[in-house]
Amino acid sequence: MSSPLVYGCMTLGGAWGQDRIPASRYDAARAAIHAAHRAGFTLFDHADIYIGGDSETVFGHLLAEDPELRAAVQIQTKCGIRLPGSTGPADAVAHYRLDRDTIRSSLEGSLQRLGVDRVERLFVHRPDPLTPLRVTAAALDELHDEGLINSVGLSNMTSHHVAGLQHLMRTPVTAVQLQMSLAHRDFVESQVLANHPAGTGFAFPSGLLAQCVAEEIELQAWGALAGGIYSGAPAPGETPAQTGAAASSDPTPRERTSALVERLARRMDVPREAVVVGWLLRHPYGIRPVVGTLDPQRIAACAQAPRAAELMTHEDWYALWTAARGGPLP
Ligand SMILES: NC(=O)c1ccc[n+]([C@@H]2O[C@H](COP(=O)([O-])OP(=O)(O)OC[C@H]3O[C@@H](n4cnc5c(N)ncnc54)[C@H](OP(=O)(O)O)[C@@H]3O)[C@@H](O)[C@H]2O)c1
Repeated sequence: MSSPLVYGCMTLGGAWGQDRIPASRYDAARAAIHAAHRAGFTLFDHADIYIGGDSETVFGHLLAEDPELRAAVQIQTKCGIRLPGSTGPADAVAHYRLDRDTIRSSLEGSLQRLGVDRVERLFVHRPDPLTPLRVTAAALDELHDEGLINSVGLSNMTSHHVAGLQHLMRTPVTAVQLQMSLAHRDFVESQVLANHPAGTGFAFPSGLLAQCVAEEIELQAWGALAGGIYSGAPAPGETPAQTGAAASSDPTPRERTSALVERLARRMDVPREAVVVGWLLRHPYGIRPVVGTLDPQRIAACAQAPRAAELMTHEDWYALWTAARGGPLP
């Protein structure tokens, strides 16, 4: 059975720009992946660019040393972003490229680093306005026909991209991946603020939610833990000491939300991370959160999100949303 959450492997393998992966990074990755496996995660999210490919290398190493783990996991990875010195030459300009050769060589590199013959799903990471969709569609069909990918996912794309590629490809589009969390609420705001002056200019692609539900395309939420800012991590620009400081007399939306997350976690008897991630699971569209913590305790905490979603009332969900948005409903 597939897990309700996806484990995000973006930080496995350490720091960008290192020549070699230190042994300590393998140990940290092993602890994280085994914690995720124990907690019931079955789907692992990669990309050719994560730590310049080192995330996949480390993961492949862990699979090779543990046949039981290898048999239990499904892998999705991504292609299409070219970064200088990583997926592109050192002097290249960062760009997106979705032609046949780039997609093929990216996947071949991923398969080699991961030590597997195929992946469950290959995501197109971001749209490339310079490559016609039909070129990308043909490249993906070729990989599917060769049995290297089971299906395609589309990341950070509009509903026009989804419809266009579905129309042009034989390979099924089985998932989309977008940023959705208590900190990135446009997927809710864009729906609820219909027919309201504030209801324009959202980053979330219009019409995509309904399209995915109608066509049974899985909606994956990246950044689902909101970087921990409602469950103990400092907000950007804040020091850890400030995060732990007593609440100010005029709390910010983040402080109000963190306090509410803590209250709900206590009431539900679950960790705070479960409330934050559970907020996404409570949405009726079957959102599948992708969580990227390396910390074994936080991984186990996220795995309690289904329980938090079950215990979260309609009003709890709204209270979290309005606290995070920092203003009342229209
Ligand atoms: N499709 C895309 O374009 C795209 C873009 C970005 C990410 N992703 C995928 O989504 C996954 C998750 O994304 P994400 O990592 O950006 O977001 P996330 O899961 O919301 O946040 C994870 C980060 O927050 C930190 N964190 C969480 N709670 C914390 C706490 N209490 N104290 C300190 N730090 C805390 C984690 O550090 P620790 O490891 O120390 O816990 C980790 O660095 C990635 O791994 C990747 O697979 C996809």
